Amino acid sequence: MKVLLVGGGGREHAIAWKVSQSKHVTKLYAAPGNAGIAEYAECVDISVMDAPKLVEFAKEKEIDFVIVGPDDPLVAGVADAFTKAGMRVFGPSKKAAIIEGSKAFSKDLMKKYGIPSAAYETFDNAEAAIAYLETAKMPIVLKADGLALGKGVLICNTLEEAKQGVKTLMLDKQFGSAGDKIVIEEFMTGREVSVLCFCDGTHIKPMASAQDHKRAKDGDQGLNTGGMGTFSPSPFYTKEVDAFCKEHVYQKTMDAMKQEGRDFVGVLFCGLMLTPDGPKVLEYNARFGDPETQVVLPRMKNDLIEVMEACVDGRLDEIELSFEDQAAVCVVLASDGYPEHYDKGFVIEGLDTFKDKDGYYVFHAGSKQTDAGIVTNGGRVLGVTAKGKDLVEARANAYKATEWISFENKYMRHDIGKAIDEQ
Ligand code: AMP
Ligand code: GLY
Repeated sequence: MKVLLVGGGGREHAIAWKVSQSKHVTKLYAAPGNAGIAEYAECVDISVMDAPKLVEFAKEKEIDFVIVGPDDPLVAGVADAFTKAGMRVFGPSKKAAIIEGSKAFSKDLMKKYGIPSAAYETFDNAEAAIAYLETAKMPIVLKADGLALGKGVLICNTLEEAKQGVKTLMLDKQFGSAGDKIVIEEFMTGREVSVLCFCDGTHIKPMASAQDHKRAKDGDQGLNTGGMGTFSPSPFYTKEVDAFCKEHVYQKTMDAMKQEGRDFVGVLFCGLMLTPDGPKVLEYNARFGDPETQVVLPRMKNDLIEVMEACVDGRLDEIELSFEDQAAVCVVLASDGYPEHYDKGFVIEGLDTFKDKDGYYVFHAGSKQTDAGIVTNGGRVLGVTAKGKDLVEARANAYKATEWISFENKYMRHDIGKAIDEQ
């Protein structure tokens, strides 16, 4: 089977690595891919947003199966373009991807179908939002309705901060039209867990749990980023929590989307907060998480293509997902200055060290092949993943492996997975 993977981040590198092990795959292409993905796939320089070119390429190469990785093309309807051309594609339609593309939509959905989540109000007018804030309890959470690179959420401790937040999102338009509408949400406390679920439109099956560290600096300080590291499983995602979520979150969400005529096929990422009142949904994403995928897929025993085909064919109920008992930790190596200003183009040394080491992986996120070798080409440069018998061992292994890599301005957090020591 010939497969085309759309995307070029660390998540797609992990997907490409896993797909390349499938016994069904004879050839893998990636658009645009990256320097790490090139080890498993022929990379073609087409933008993830260029649906006509992607479809034309897939037709020319007689692609049998397409996987769309990132949120932007999914929300824009790139999966639909392949479907319209008669191709099999893993990834939700535009109609279904709205569950990530509009926070107002997802909040209304949860309210309508009784899926546990924080109380909220939606505003498309800054004055009304500010009037509401005058009477609200602090801290409070402001969210841009649309996609904002994972950065459109503001946690405000005081009324002043919240008013400033409304200005930033709605008047200064820091995230463009994503802030035309905002959701103002009750502040929740608790442990966060990410659960990625395979979906076939009717059935839904959760993968192993994971936890992300979103802030740039140690101790969850600094700005929000796309994610600085992850671990899997989450020790806080107990059997009881899993049972609760299967009944009250996952299946209910699948059924709700079907009821709305928005059958969801692909990966539904449920961001959960384990509050004192039970698990509640923080957000949905319509795709694999980044860097959650870099710890979840290395633990997965199934042939990924078999699972994805079952999703597309509507027979996920026939599949039993299986994960190794081993734990995994991923530490992101970033360019110093990320998520604000940083320099690019520094040569990366030590990548070959990973080649013959079982249980150690280096997933490229922002790298580029040049005549001088592979160089840094983004804020998040690499994700170093290691496995171990438990989280403590996996974490020690991952930090050991970060030492194998060097490049100028290398920056990482030193406390990824630290919560696990507190138990
Ligand atoms: P989101 O993109 O909606 O997941 O939000 C990004 C981050 O903001 C989450 O991972 C949480 O850490 C935090 N967050 C979002 N919503 C809330 C909330 N209602 N209460 C507390 N923290 C929140
Ligand atoms: N790691 C969070 C996300 O993929 O949105």
